[in-house]
Amino acid sequence: MSDAVADIRDVRAGKHHSGQDRESRLGNGAGSLLLSVRDLKVVYPGRPPVVAVDQVSFELFEGEVLGLVGESGSGKSTVAKAVAGLLAPTSGEIIFDGNSMKPLGMAKRPVERTGIQMVFQDPTTSLNPRRRVGSQISDGLEVAAARKPEGGNRLSVEKWLERVGLSASDGNRFPRSFSGGQRQRIATARALATEPSLLIADEPISSLDASTQARVAGIMCKLAAEQNTALLFISHDLSIVRLIADRILVMYHGEIVESGPTQQVWNDPQDGYTKRLLSSIPTPDGLGILPSA
Ligand SMILES: Nc1ncnc2c1ncn2[C@@H]1O[C@H](COP(=O)(O)OP(=O)(O)OP(=O)(O)O)[C@@H](O)[C@H]1O
Ligand SMILES: [Mg+2]
Repeated sequence: MSDAVADIRDVRAGKHHSGQDRESRLGNGAGSLLLSVRDLKVVYPGRPPVVAVDQVSFELFEGEVLGLVGESGSGKSTVAKAVAGLLAPTSGEIIFDGNSMKPLGMAKRPVERTGIQMVFQDPTTSLNPRRRVGSQISDGLEVAAARKPEGGNRLSVEKWLERVGLSASDGNRFPRSFSGGQRQRIATARALATEPSLLIADEPISSLDASTQARVAGIMCKLAAEQNTALLFISHDLSIVRLIADRILVMYHGEIVESGPTQQVWNDPQDGYTKRLLSSIPTPDGLGILPSA
């Protein structure tokens, strides 16, 4: 078993969290509600207009890992952008940390100050190509200090680089001099250094080769768990989602067709589309193993 998979299993077993064990903290009402999405509808204007997302409702608890899966065009990125405040819903409500995320509210509060961070499929979207990666992680630390001045001792830029498997001196380099997997780990460090309550990762591993995918997902999941950051993890790769997610949402044609604890959705899918999706996964899965979910 690879280190990455072992790390992911440790997180699932709650070994990276000092408090209660993970199962009892999450999803069953024990954790506090962080995000509530109610009847979200997003229509992109055009001729004809595109109803990208309709009647989408779900909840996300503090520190929880929620996997969002579904075929291309099913509306996953649209949900992610609406939750991050990057686009305005046509109707419906998004309540984050007790605040309704109305477009007006977002204008008053810069997105990064809301405690939501995003990592995208293409790491060059999350990183500024013209700035050294150390100073970009440093920006993240400044956001954390502004949001939570009482936060105590924060890790240095060098420590953050080491936490994502790079060396302290890498901070002087520019994004282009790193591999795709390394860039995605740097983007993860920059995002998590802000100490967000929620990290939205939209296909963060789909541009990486198979051996790197589990490593990046494992690091993201482990570091998020260590600081109790909730993770909305969007991926085509069901074998990785199965490993890291506490709960799964399945989208099809703009709607959520199935949701539930990972093991339940995996072992006993109710919806026809979910059944087709799961049966399309080769056995054993992409990691060459068949873990119990
Ligand atoms: N800016 C836009 N203008 C018009 N239509 C859009 C826009 N962005 C997305 N869409 C449409 O909305 C629907 C949902 O797109 P979305 O990007 O949310 O899907 P997705 O599930 O993230 O797909 P993928 O897995 O390919 O990333 C699709 O039909 C898409 O063509
Ligand atoms: Mg997408």
